[in-house]
Amino acid sequence: MDVRFIEQRVEDIQCDALVIGVSYKKIGQQSKELLLAEKAKEVNSLLSGLLQTMYDDGEFKAELGEMITVYPMGKLAARRIVVIGLGMQEKMNTHSIRRASAIASRHLQQTGAHQIALALHSEEWNIDLNNSVRAEVEGALLGLYTFKKYKQTNTNGNGEGITRINLLANNANETMLGLAVDQGIALAEATNFARDLVNEPPNVLTPSELANRASAMAKQFGLECQILDRSEMQELGMGGLLGVAQGSAEPPKFIILRYRGVPQSENQAIALVGKGITFDTGGISLKPAEGMYQMKGDMAGAAAVIGAMYAIAALKPVINVTALVPTTENMPGGTAYRPGDILRIMNGKTIEIVNTDAEGRLVLADALSYAVKNGLSPIIDVATLTGGIVVALGSVMSGMFCNDEELSNAILAAGQIAGEKFWPMPLDDEYKEAIQSEIADIKQTGGKYASAVTAAKILEHFVGDAQWAHLDIAGTDFIDTKKPYQEHGATGVAVRTLAEFVLRRAE
Ligand code: BES
Ligand code: ZN
Ligand code: ZN
Repeated sequence: MDVRFIEQRVEDIQCDALVIGVSYKKIGQQSKELLLAEKAKEVNSLLSGLLQTMYDDGEFKAELGEMITVYPMGKLAARRIVVIGLGMQEKMNTHSIRRASAIASRHLQQTGAHQIALALHSEEWNIDLNNSVRAEVEGALLGLYTFKKYKQTNTNGNGEGITRINLLANNANETMLGLAVDQGIALAEATNFARDLVNEPPNVLTPSELANRASAMAKQFGLECQILDRSEMQELGMGGLLGVAQGSAEPPKFIILRYRGVPQSENQAIALVGKGITFDTGGISLKPAEGMYQMKGDMAGAAAVIGAMYAIAALKPVINVTALVPTTENMPGGTAYRPGDILRIMNGKTIEIVNTDAEGRLVLADALSYAVKNGLSPIIDVATLTGGIVVALGSVMSGMFCNDEELSNAILAAGQIAGEKFWPMPLDDEYKEAIQSEIADIKQTGGKYASAVTAAKILEHFVGDAQWAHLDIAGTDFIDTKKPYQEHGATGVAVRTLAEFVLRRAE
């Protein structure tokens, strides 16, 4: 994909479609006023006040995501003009730009455009210009994402689709915002890379294949990559990961990716840990058939951290980051682990198994112990961990559990720039009671109430003194419905937040 700034008179821009973002503001209680930034003003006057007239008639209200197409019929060099609403100015943020950019680009991809020009950012919106440009690029590339590799016919019928995105510069200075463009491209490509991993069917994306893809990505970007196999896990005492894996014919892997932005320094790398269950049947505590196919997405945490490493490797911040991914299937069978078993995790603590479907905490326990043993802090884990978080927050927000206020604020701030929402959840010690075992150090599950919290309390046993955050993305990793801004399926959630968190920490 070719993405670049151009500085040209708006009437001279040759493209299949010119996309312009427009906003509105309230004046007093009753009335509203259309807000047109630089390029939109020019388009409006070249079209004899068309945009203003459509707004005045109530045909177009400039609400976020609202879209109309007009054909200038030769008054501009662009074949069509797509006017996209950015919503009320007071509420507008970088995510409004990202969302609008995605909707318009996706629509154009589906309606035959190849070369498009975007005019969505503006100093007049009072949003940081770098972040706006980045969001404009991210939105377009995220919106254009499709996963059609297993379909024999491309249902879009649009050949190569969109191959070129021109960003309209409002003045000569803006053509200097190349870094923002590069960041937008890297963050969107990283998100789409993670989406591919999650969308792949579980017969293709086995633990070995996940390891292969992580390793190929590492090679491409010059990251260190180490893949531990079963015997190395045994040496390290990873009883959680090995216990979950013992029912599967596919061998488990423990993927380690290291990015060294400060090669001379050995200590204090950030750890990103991702749950990598490539298919979760529930094991002996088998899940019901309905909806089970969605459990191919139970490695979305792994995809998020591998995707974040993609962005980090591409953008090269001055900081060290290590990604840890315990990956296996969770299958039933004659060799599977059972309810009643007791497993010993790498840090020595024992867990009494109650329900083999609560496998995520077991594999994460080993990965968190590994992070602590290697002196990594802060540790951020990402996991499709519990049905409880889906009940609590639905698909709008991911749950965030954190033992450190500064870390929690930094993640929330990174999420805001990335356009991803996290809701702080409790870790109060009263929740510990539910996971006390009579015969082991910890009981694996805490019953149906507050199950997302008791799961997090189990993880807490394995983080030692590290600063730690746990992101439960069970409700946000996948969308089952068609959205105008996004392909059905994997969302790639948390990739951009993690990458942004790392980029900011390096500053
Ligand atoms: N992978 C699931 C959690 C999940 C549920 C992810 C829905 C995405 C959508 C996890 O391994 C699981 O099965 N958790 C159980 C634990 C329970 C048996 C204690 C849950 O939360 O229901
Ligand atoms: Zn499970
Ligand atoms: Zn699971």
